This record gives sequence, structure tokens and C-alpha cells, in this order.
Amino acid sequence: MLSEKMEEALNEQIKWELYSAYLYLSMAAYFEDLGLEGFAHWMKAQSAEETMHALKFYKFINERNGRVRLQEIPQPPTEWESPLACLEYALNHEREVTRRINNLMRFAKEEGDHATEIFLQWFVSEQVEEEDSFGRLVNKMKLVKEAPQGLFHLDRELAARPLDLTLLTQELA
Ligand code: FEO
Repeated sequence: MLSEKMEEALNEQIKWELYSAYLYLSMAAYFEDLGLEGFAHWMKAQSAEETMHALKFYKFINERNGRVRLQEIPQPPTEWESPLACLEYALNHEREVTRRINNLMRFAKEEGDHATEIFLQWFVSEQVEEEDSFGRLVNKMKLVKEAPQGLFHLDRELAARPLDLTLLTQELA
């Protein structure tokens, strides 16, 4: 059984994961508007992944006999100065998510809630990957910044990101 405070903290994280989905969908729309469809596709795939993260928390709260209570999701930004600024914003956002996951982990340890600690392990590893993939994207973008041809190639590369919806259906099952 989850403590009341832990239930509240996990519900708060559902909001952050859904906000991440919302933010990346907003970024997809921004790239769509610029005609960078590969970037837009990559962000839509990322948005779906964030929804999957939210569903993992949803499932876990229920498994622990807690109650999911959805919260208000803030409006994400809709414009950025440049594609690079947009990707840097995303990287900083992931760093904030990592900070929140680490806080949750600290809290679970303080409470002696081992089940939540084990559950959060997956997210600790996931955040390493998330920061790495956004960091690589920012670096690539910095390299191609001066060359429109490079941007075109990067857009094509990002269009190839697989969109694995089984990740979502597994969590909904
Ligand atoms: Fe669910 Fe990208 O953090």
C-alpha cells in the first residue's frame, strides 16, 4: 500500500510525464510548421513515449491500491527562436524530469518503500537514455546549423525513428 504522500508524489509525476507528451507534441507542431517533417515525426514518437511513461505510473499506482488523480497540465510553449533553441529547451526539460525522478527515488528510500524504489529504477535508467538522445540531437543540430543541406539530411534521419505503439498498448493492458 502506498503512503498518502507517495501517492501524491507519483500522481504529480503523471502530470509531468503528460506535460512532456504535450510539450513534445507542441514541438512537433513547431517543426511541422517549418516543413521539417522528420523532426516533427521524431517529436511525435517522443510524445507517444511520454504518454507510455505516464501510463506506467498510472498502472503502478493502481497495483499498489492507490488512487490516480489527474491534475491540470500547463500550456507548453508553442514557438522557439530556432530549431536548435527548441532542442536545447527539450534537453533542459529532460534534465528537470531527471531531477524529479531522483527526488522521487530519494523519497521512496526515506519512506522505506522498496516496491516504489524498484519501480523507479526503470525511470532512472530511462532518463540516462533520454538525456543522451536529446544531447546527441542538440550536438548534431549544432554541427549542421550553418549548412541547410545538413539540416535536410538530419531531417531524413529523424524521419526513420520507429513509432512503436506496442509500448503504449502494453501499458494499457
Ligand atoms: Fe518521461 Fe522524457 O521523460
